[in-house]
Amino acid sequence: MLSAKSAEVVEATLPAVGGAIGDITPLFYERMFAAHPELLRDLFNRGNQANGTQRQALAGSIAAFATALIAHPDQRPDAMLARIAHKHVSVGIRNDQYRIVHEHLFAAIVDVLGEAVTPEVAAAWDEVYWLMANALVAVEDRLRAEVAAGGDPADLWRPYTVVARYQETDTVTTFLVRPADGRPAPVARPGQYVSVRTELADGAHQIRQYSLSGTADGALRFSVKREPGGEVSAHLQDHLHTGGAVELSPPLGDIALADGDGPVLLASAGIGNTPMTAMLHHLAATGSPRTVVSVHGDRDQLSHAFRADLAQLTAKLPNATAHVFYEQPLGEWPAERTGLVDLSTVEVPAGTTAYLCGPLPFLRTVREQLLAAGVPAADIHYEVFGPDLWLV
Ligand SMILES: Cc1cc2nc3c(=O)[nH]c(=O)nc-3n(C[C@H](O)[C@H](O)[C@H](O)COP(=O)(O)OP(=O)(O)OC[C@H]3O[C@@H](n4cnc5c(N)ncnc54)[C@H](O)[C@@H]3O)c2cc1C
Ligand code: HEM
Repeated sequence: MLSAKSAEVVEATLPAVGGAIGDITPLFYERMFAAHPELLRDLFNRGNQANGTQRQALAGSIAAFATALIAHPDQRPDAMLARIAHKHVSVGIRNDQYRIVHEHLFAAIVDVLGEAVTPEVAAAWDEVYWLMANALVAVEDRLRAEVAAGGDPADLWRPYTVVARYQETDTVTTFLVRPADGRPAPVARPGQYVSVRTELADGAHQIRQYSLSGTADGALRFSVKREPGGEVSAHLQDHLHTGGAVELSPPLGDIALADGDGPVLLASAGIGNTPMTAMLHHLAATGSPRTVVSVHGDRDQLSHAFRADLAQLTAKLPNATAHVFYEQPLGEWPAERTGLVDLSTVEVPAGTTAYLCGPLPFLRTVREQLLAAGVPAADIHYEVFGPDLWLV
């Protein structure tokens, strides 16, 4: 909890700090990467750095954390912390690196805000930073121990061998991988992702996350869509073949299908159906009697990855329906399922827990439609295939 004195100072300076985040973040990353070039080469996602998305996420989340602390001084925004902690553990950040971020972030704040950063202001924001950092470190330590499954928690990366690969669509490739170290495959909750670490042509080790699209007989399955101008997705599709080696983190991610017997709604767009496919596989494999409503949007039948899985798994489940929307359907297709996903024509059962995954505009629309249909915000969970800018 923030001390009363710091709370007052943070509240008074929040508009100035929040308003200057756009200037503080580039300076912070420039300083940090100048002092530690290895962090940009081998830890941070340089695609996100280049397109600016991650830059807003880190500092923005500190401002969001401060705002939440001021609004509810006795609560900790745990959902926000969990998402960040899962991501941090999956890329292998170390506790001692919080000092590096602190040093360069605070130097950037002083550079931008100048004399406004009195010793009192600096001390108050220091308190916010370390409250958040220490809370993250505690969650991350716990998570690392949990996912180590008997291995060394400091040893994140495990070697895997590709046992099969196949093309889902023109742009989506599925990889089936097994551990190459003789230990059993890790347990994954349906909806979780792995981080994949790849050595690129320039020697950099770049890390990206891929949701598991299923698990089977000691193997993990993930599916990669080729991103235009993307480094790692292209590298995996062009260079990772059957028999090839790849390094993966343990399965992580705070969005996973919760046990229970209430209705479930799985809504996705495009490649956002990878976690939904894992959830459907799990429901079918456990013979779940739950009411399951799948909703998916894609450009057309040919760009729709896991089209056959969706049909087969829906047929296998006793109480499941699927509603597929195509923007430009090929051949005959119902008019009410043509265009973007629209939940107004889909019956949402009372008591539904919803899982969403897709681009931000899709998530916003579907979330609003679910709220309008009476689903409480607490029962709507979503995964984003990039830094979660809803946090900021
Ligand atoms: C939790 C999670 C789960 C995910 N699950 C999946 C999944 O199941 N399947 C899947 O396919 N993906 C998934 N992703 C996305 C995946 O992690 C990668 O982000 C994706 O594969 C693109 O990576 P890349 O290296 O190919 O692209 P990057 O090289 O990272 O590029 C990303 C984008 O930035 C642009 N860019 C690059 N450099 C610049 C520049 N200099 N200026 C401007 N723009 C630039 C690129 O054109 C591209 O559009 C997931 C992400 C997360 C966070
Ligand atoms: C209090 C301190 C920190 C905060 C508030 C913070 C916040 C965040 C946030 C919000 C994200 C994006 C999460 C998502 O939505 O996916 C993130 C990702 C990340 N963070 Fe941190 N972070 C902190 C410390 C650190 C440290 C010390 C490091 C290591 C030097 C680090 C490295 C990373 C990396 C590598 C990612 C993934 C980036 C990417 O793939 O683009 N963070 N962090």
